[in-house]
Amino acid sequence: MYEAESVEKGKPVDWKLPPREFYEALGFEGMQDLMYRFYDEIYESSIANFFPQDHEEFDKVKEKNTRFFIELCGGPKVYQESADSGMELNEYMLRIHDEFSITDKSRFEWLGCMEKVLRETDVDQKLIDGFWDYLEKFSRLTVNTFPDGSKYYANL
Ligand code: HEM
Repeated sequence: MYEAESVEKGKPVDWKLPPREFYEALGFEGMQDLMYRFYDEIYESSIANFFPQDHEEFDKVKEKNTRFFIELCGGPKVYQESADSGMELNEYMLRIHDEFSITDKSRFEWLGCMEKVLRETDVDQKLIDGFWDYLEKFSRLTVNTFPDGSKYYANL
């Protein structure tokens, strides 16, 4: 796998946004294609059960997720949910995950799905590394359930 550290409960994470050039290299449609392929992987993965089983509902999550990543990576502001919530985009994204019990193991599965689609994406490796660095670090913050059964909800 691309490099990924295990999560340490409560340890601050020094994450940063993906490089704008990553989005510029892919473009709107390239980014959409990437995220759709990612969700196809998720659907076949061991964490599929976290997501809606109903096709239409699953597609809604896929759509929202795609719009989020387009906005996050420097594309047009097509993700409305955060603005509606009044919360900052990244804070909102973190809190969306609180209702799911996410372990480091699930996070690795999630990252594995991303790695697979990134390896099939024809973009300069340096830009992929920058995107991966964001994913690997930010995803640590979404882990809220630990091997001893305890819970911890990280902040930005
Ligand atoms: C870099 C880290 C991550 C980012 C940026 C991210 C982003 C997102 C986005 C944009 C959505 C859709 C939000 C919406 O409804 O508007 C979402 C939902 C979700 N994510 Fe993540 N995610 C990350 C990590 C993870 C990980 C590690 C898991 C592990 C299982 C996960 C599980 C879920 C689940 C279960 C949902 C909700 C599906 C539903 O609405 O039923 N995410 N995430």
